[in-house]
Amino acid sequence: MKIAICPGSFDPVTLGHLDIISRSCKLFDKVIVAVLVNPEKKTLFTVEERMELLRRCTKDLPGVEVGSFYGLLADYAKEKHATAVVRGLRALSDFEYEFQMALTNRQLNPNLETIFLATQAQNMFISSSIVKQIANFDGDVSGCVPNCIIKDIQKRVEESRRESL
Ligand code: PNS
Repeated sequence: MKIAICPGSFDPVTLGHLDIISRSCKLFDKVIVAVLVNPEKKTLFTVEERMELLRRCTKDLPGVEVGSFYGLLADYAKEKHATAVVRGLRALSDFEYEFQMALTNRQLNPNLETIFLATQAQNMFISSSIVKQIANFDGDVSGCVPNCIIKDIQKRVEESRRESL
């Protein structure tokens, strides 16, 4: 059984993430979509909320499991018997950081390969931060995230706007 991990912050999950996750499903028997627990980072959604949104968006994808991890990805991969990490590459600017992560993860866990999937052209500009910026100014995020989570994003943005008043 070939197991891969698609790790990330997923705050929130985007169409770009879902493209990489669904293409990973064709390459592996099981794909663990893993949300990083990072208490130092201020996020729009909690880890549990991000996992719930991911579950909702991946419910029709065979072999997908949603999880979370704290600490090193290399250790989480060992614990889950995963042999690969899948990451999407959008532009050259992604490469330096992704390459450093891939080398670090291999140093820590030599049995873990990193596989990069080239993004689809229409998703090249999409990132979770761009989605949050658009939503913050009441823009249309429908080309960036699946329809089933748009209301959740709008609601949360409104809540955090009210909290900061
Ligand atoms: O969606 P992101 O924020 O680009 O995802 C980054 C992530 C979660 C893949 C990365 O920060 C990570 O794996 N963090 C866990 C800590 C770790 O293993 N560090 C060593 C490799 S750099």
